[in-house]
Amino acid sequence: MIGGFCEYTVVDQASVVVIERDIPLDLAGLVACGVPAGVGAARYRARVKPGDSVLVVGVGGDGMNVVQGARLCGASQIIAADIVQAKLDWARDFGATHGVKAEGEALTREVLALTGGVGVQHAFVCIDPATTLLPAFRATAKAGNVVVTAITPDTVTEIKIPPLELFVTQKAIMGAVYGFASPRLQIPELLALYRRGELKLKELITQTYSLDDINRGYADLEAGKNIRGVIAF
Ligand SMILES: NC(=O)c1ccc[n+]([C@@H]2O[C@H](COP(=O)([O-])OP(=O)(O)OC[C@H]3O[C@@H](n4cnc5c(N)ncnc54)[C@H](O)[C@@H]3O)[C@@H](O)[C@H]2O)c1
Repeated sequence: MIGGFCEYTVVDQASVVVIERDIPLDLAGLVACGVPAGVGAARYRARVKPGDSVLVVGVGGDGMNVVQGARLCGASQIIAADIVQAKLDWARDFGATHGVKAEGEALTREVLALTGGVGVQHAFVCIDPATTLLPAFRATAKAGNVVVTAITPDTVTEIKIPPLELFVTQKAIMGAVYGFASPRLQIPELLALYRRGELKLKELITQTYSLDDINRGYADLEAGKNIRGVIAF
């Protein structure tokens, strides 16, 4: 019922959020999913506080907005982790204080080294929980939060966390769909932050494509060339 690449679509009025006319639709489109999912995960799910430390694994369209959200919350240390160097470089523009190009045990090791062996207060798993959840969990401080924003295929039926580690460290593992807040609340709020210059939206658009070029858009996304590619009708 999304009607993604259509010029027109019929939706239930419950699925409509009114925006002001002067907001360009390419930017409005961004606050329909990835931006609230990421910003809201930091603000509303983890409730990051000023001075907190944060790890974001996978700084694509979703994770880059967790970085922005953590910055808006006043986090003092924001560690971005990705396998593509360009994403880590971009993440600095969105508020990341550190970039880590590592996976698995190396990721945990590097984050612990950056946090004096303690780990971060909030870790966000923004890609493939099957492989990134455990390293992120282990890079999280005792009593910290591990927030999963990434979607997993429904054929994946378990995540592996040693129960004793969970018990002893008292960490919270939580999910966050759409930033844990209503679109009616978040969309106007995010657009107001954009108007005040506190939220980057234009900078999220790396490239614009025509509908005929949509396959190139997907190829570029898979090749890690874009934060967001936008189809312009
Ligand atoms: N919670 C929500 O409401 C919500 C909203 C939007 C997207 N999502 C989900 O979030 C996930 C990410 O979406 P996206 O739009 O940001 O995708 P994306 O492709 O834009 O970004 C994914 C990023 O992860 C990086 N990456 C890939 N493998 C990695 C690894 N092993 N370790 C570290 N980084 C790695 C990629 O280089 C890329 O930068 C998807 O599962 C998507 O479905 C959830």
